[in-house]
Amino acid sequence: MTIKTALTYDDVLLVPQKSNILSRQDVDLSTKLSQNIDLKIPLVSANMDTITESKMAIAMALAGGIGIIHRFCSIEIQAKEVAKVKRKQNIVIDQPFTVNPDNTLAEVEKKMQELNCKSFLVTEDDSKELLGILTSRDILFVKNENTLVQDMMTPKSKLITASEDILPSQAKELLENNKIEKLPLVDSAFKIKGLITATDIVRNYNNVNASKDSRGRLLVGAAVGTKTGFMDRATALIEAGADVLVIDIAHGHSHNALEVIKAIKIKYPTVELIGGNIATAQAALDLIQAGVNGIKVGIGPGSTCTTRLTTGFGVPQLTAIMNIYPICQKHKLPLIADGGVKQPGDLVKALAAGANTVMIGGQFAGTEESPGLTITYKGRQYKISRGMASLSAALSRPDAKETADQITPEGIEARVPYRGSIKNIIDQFTGGLRSGMSYGNARNLTELRNNAEFIRITPAGQLESAPHDNEIL
Ligand code: XMP
Repeated sequence: MTIKTALTYDDVLLVPQKSNILSRQDVDLSTKLSQNIDLKIPLVSANMDTITESKMAIAMALAGGIGIIHRFCSIEIQAKEVAKVKRKQNIVIDQPFTVNPDNTLAEVEKKMQELNCKSFLVTEDDSKELLGILTSRDILFVKNENTLVQDMMTPKSKLITASEDILPSQAKELLENNKIEKLPLVDSAFKIKGLITATDIVRNYNNVNASKDSRGRLLVGAAVGTKTGFMDRATALIEAGADVLVIDIAHGHSHNALEVIKAIKIKYPTVELIGGNIATAQAALDLIQAGVNGIKVGIGPGSTCTTRLTTGFGVPQLTAIMNIYPICQKHKLPLIADGGVKQPGDLVKALAAGANTVMIGGQFAGTEESPGLTITYKGRQYKISRGMASLSAALSRPDAKETADQITPEGIEARVPYRGSIKNIIDQFTGGLRSGMSYGNARNLTELRNNAEFIRITPAGQLESAPHDNEIL
């Protein structure tokens, strides 16, 4: 048997190229997550329960990347997290919150608190006919808690409305010209079809770098497992508005994973589906044949993974990317390099080796936007991060049946120093990438890949590459 050598990020460097890039701002970081999903930056937050829920997904999409909501919760909770992202920055709110005309002020105030919402469309529950609008301004000076909505609202006769096919530019004009904050959308029978708010329009126009769908809503992905109930989860996530589903299984080159991909594609042929995780060219071919729109690469490189230690299996990440890239290129399928990125230079190497995006867990942990409480230990703030195959994660799954001694973990739990907002970390990664592209004479990520010249380095080269012979402050 011949044993091949496989390399990872720290084993190599990129050779600097003669560069015509005058400014780091002259480079284009846009890319594809999957065949039909475009991103402005090549960063994806991992579908882990200490990394991506709606708060992280919103921050990622606002920065031009995307977050994949984890699946380690009930179907309802995961779908709600997806819906929260889709509602965050939409030009059209499909199902605006409503109240009944005979609700009292007390009931409205309770609902406002529960939903964290300051205005409602008024309609009888069943009819959906728009009767008026009630905003926090209408109730500001009302003292009697029993006052009815119909006596406080701005009635239908005084409302400015539009039809549901109104363009964002027309809606902006209507809101501006009439100095109004809400524009209800109705059909010819005055039934509610949606709502456009001035805040969303302004935010949308201001943020040209966010990842958005055709209706101006933030993009979001969601993970689906391969066990019983996967189709119910997929259905709920699609209905909640997920733009892409990611098959979440440690060994993506398995019969089960391929069958799940085929089944989802039969039921939802147009759904954007990413398959993985894999580490070989044959696995990529099989996933493509099953119908995926994108491929996620990474067996065991993750910062909280112990798969390689526990099972003896895995492929160092750079070699895994390089082996799979030719297949992805031939079939025009984007490649996501998942796990093992420790610093911005690793992102540059992954993209130069053939990845279109990089999925990150550990480096995004401990941020304001990552789920979980901040804890204080010896006067310092931390957050907990954990591998999704760690003991604690396995025990807390909604469908967990095994006891602790029956579980063989393939991941660890970690205490991560609190790092502040994810925005600063994203800026560090994109900043490093921009610099890297100037060393590589690359105006875009295709040029970065085409110009890439990797060299393998020795342990002495690795030592030289990191700060040395200093007392680091
Ligand atoms: P980083 O290095 O960014 O990697 O933290 C994130 C990726 O790690 C994978 N992951 C795991 N792999 N056992 C594993 O073998 C685990 O418990 C585990 N948890 C996460 C996953 O692919 C993630 O995106």
